[in-house]
Amino acid sequence: MNKALRKPVIAGNWKMNLTPDETAALIEQMKPLVADAACDVVLCVPFVDIAAAQAAAAGSNIQIGAQNCHWANSGAFTGEISAPMLKAIGVGYVIVGHSERRTYFNDSSETVAARTRAALDAGLTVILCVGETRSEREQGITQEIVRTQTKIALQGVSAEELKRVIVAYEPVWAIGTGLTATAEQANEVNAWIRALLAELYSIDAANGVVIQYGGSMNAANAGELLAQPDIDGGLIGGASLKAQDFSAIIKATYFF
Ligand code: PGA
Repeated sequence: MNKALRKPVIAGNWKMNLTPDETAALIEQMKPLVADAACDVVLCVPFVDIAAAQAAAAGSNIQIGAQNCHWANSGAFTGEISAPMLKAIGVGYVIVGHSERRTYFNDSSETVAARTRAALDAGLTVILCVGETRSEREQGITQEIVRTQTKIALQGVSAEELKRVIVAYEPVWAIGTGLTATAEQANEVNAWIRALLAELYSIDAANGVVIQYGGSMNAANAGELLAQPDIDGGLIGGASLKAQDFSAIIKATYFF
């Protein structure tokens, strides 16, 4: 729906991989390969790699993001990082609600909403992840799950703030498994998300939101996924750790 209204965003999610030195080396390799990207390029790196990533990416079109933030601005939360801390070091993007966080660290829809609020208050752009598990898909409740996750996370988010929200549809069964949703399956869910945004905000607001697909997106399948009318980019795990693969996905956005 009105794909031309949206600039695609390809974001890498490095998860818990690479040291600062390895970060710098990989970004050096990526820079020339992605320099003429027709989309926004973001790398969400581990907290300890942010400084090295920013230094390596300086002057290039690669923007640096984080993979999570706490919902409080500061306080007695051992081991956590707040949204204002990320903003203070020049981070522009933060992933919130990734399924690995929901599965292994008990991030709930409510804390995802609180993290989203904190990130928006701090001035960050949020990459909000939603998606069903395999059993939820098999039960036929994908639409309900994705709508509920999205709706709860966006409670209290204004239309103005929505301009700093990217939604990433990531079916849990496709993440890191080599199984990809078909282009039709992925587009169907992205269209449901956009329809929900139109209900919650307006058609214009919904048409402005970048809705990514994530889950085993790679150089071979990116073209077909990214050509879908409601898929405006990708959140890329494994393939974002390889310069050639990541740049091939970025190049796939030229052919919209
Ligand atoms: P994957 O990860 O591309 O390795 O499946 C995607 C993600 O977790 O964002």
